[in-house]
Amino acid sequence: MSDRPLRVDEFLERALYAPEDGFYASGRGRAGRRGDFLTSPEVGPLFGAVLARALEAWWRELGRPDPFTVVEAGAGVGTLARSVLAASPGVPLRYVAVERAAPLREQHPEGVKSLEDLPEGPVLGVVVANELLDNLPFRLLDPEGEVHVDEQGGEVLLASELALPRHGRVPAQEEAGRWLRRALGCLERGRVLLFDYGSTTAELEHRDWRSWVRTYQGHQRGGHPFAEPGSQDVTCEVAWDQLSAVATPARRRTQRAFLEAWGIDGLVAEGRRDWQARAHLGDLAALRARSRVREAEALLDPTGLGAFDAVEWEV
Ligand SMILES: C[S@@+](CC[C@H](N)C(=O)[O-])C[C@H]1O[C@@H](n2cnc3c(N)ncnc32)[C@H](O)[C@@H]1O
Repeated sequence: MSDRPLRVDEFLERALYAPEDGFYASGRGRAGRRGDFLTSPEVGPLFGAVLARALEAWWRELGRPDPFTVVEAGAGVGTLARSVLAASPGVPLRYVAVERAAPLREQHPEGVKSLEDLPEGPVLGVVVANELLDNLPFRLLDPEGEVHVDEQGGEVLLASELALPRHGRVPAQEEAGRWLRRALGCLERGRVLLFDYGSTTAELEHRDWRSWVRTYQGHQRGGHPFAEPGSQDVTCEVAWDQLSAVATPARRRTQRAFLEAWGIDGLVAEGRRDWQARAHLGDLAALRARSRVREAEALLDPTGLGAFDAVEWEV
């Protein structure tokens, strides 16, 4: 830590991404059943299979370019890459997995180009990210001043050049805005597609800040966001209005609506049929078919992952 109080974004940059002991950079933090939180790609291959259908349609729409590039940002260990590649046999995909944390990058699958940061471009295709933006460092504003963190993990309110809220705390997601600008900037033509949980600044201002700044550790909710930096994930709901101020999205719908629009129901019905036909065999194909039905329930859950937002920008 430092001897001067840190702005919350500076604190989070160290807590999550400091090379030696940041939660992600150290390799301690990861999504998955054995990890700290379960994300849609980690539920199973169905999320990637549905995304692959959208990608195929967008590839056709762009005139079937070869290659058609998918840049996945915040790719973790590459689980989404594995399921998209497995489900996209007809599309000449060039899959670029961007992951800041080296220990996670090392686990990316073969056939994927692994990068630490977004490519320069120009990219003809799609930049996609699942639960990246909630993990980017944010600033925290209070009606009395900007929140800073002292060496003991205590809060200090200091003057800020940013306008302060009137009622309650709000995040200032400048890093997310910069990231979106760069993602749009690397596209020659195509889309940026983000999945995340989010809200608006006005709505967040009227909620307790501890309900939208959440911490996770080993599948449990973690401790206070400023306690034991490096030991837990610290996330913030995405204030979509702040990103709309960077560029107006073409579409915002729930993850459930996105997955339904791209045919999850058909894939589940297929799974159900296969399960019925093969249940007596109990082989791997039968188990995969049954698992598809369970995965869909988790991905569409209106009180869980199904309520996430899927937001698209077009270039
Ligand atoms: C919550 S995890 C999500 C992982 C994966 N997308 C999933 O859904 O399972 C967020 C990931 O984004 C990575 N990350 C954070 N900032 C990044 C950046 N600027 N560029 C690339 N990856 C980043 C973190 O290291 C972490 O692995």
